[in-house]
Amino acid sequence: MKKVIFATGNQDKMGEIRSILADWDMEIQSMKEAGIDLEIVEDGSTFEENAVIKAAAVAAQLSEEGVVVFADDSGLEIDYLNKEPGIYSARYLGEDTPYKIKNQKILERMEGVPKEMRTARFVCAIAAADKNGGICVTRGTIEGYVGWEPSGANGFGYDPIFYLDEYGCSTAELPPDLKNQLSHRGKALSAMRRKLEELSV
Ligand code: IMP
Repeated sequence: MKKVIFATGNQDKMGEIRSILADWDMEIQSMKEAGIDLEIVEDGSTFEENAVIKAAAVAAQLSEEGVVVFADDSGLEIDYLNKEPGIYSARYLGEDTPYKIKNQKILERMEGVPKEMRTARFVCAIAAADKNGGICVTRGTIEGYVGWEPSGANGFGYDPIFYLDEYGCSTAELPPDLKNQLSHRGKALSAMRRKLEELSV
């Protein structure tokens, strides 16, 4: 394998992915940098299915050998809300609604809920696909809870309301390198890297 193309249009995710994979001796391109422009309908019912749909759709466009397409599907599962927003995390209250509003709405829905019932996790599935139909998937999670107010300016999305017991702060308050080490995305990407290295892809 000589190159990885990452199937995402999300600049925040792309930034995290680049730092997580910074020490990997591999060219990493975004879809845009690879000149691929594709609307993909994410109609799977799990994170894994959606990641596979995205990676396979982009891999089907490849002509070059030695290129692997990575795609991630991720989101926040809140136990008290029956695992909402889950696979709909990006679409929750509408794709273009600012996260300040999405986070506020979640805090309102959790009003009066005690700490022990506020458990939540970020989940990330990474799929890797090549042009010959080869595919594999990994999953990473990070356990935490929904806090009572947004805090922190790092990260993106739901980070300001997702708190970690061990650190006593939200993932938006963690230094980016530490978030990347602990995060669902960091874990799923490291597992994928190990898997591909073992397979000598
Ligand atoms: P996807 O692009 O369909 O995978 O959407 C993932 C969505 O989940 C993002 O837009 C965020 O709303 C949320 N999400 C995933 N990972 C994170 C994270 O690390 N921090 C905060 N929100 C996240």
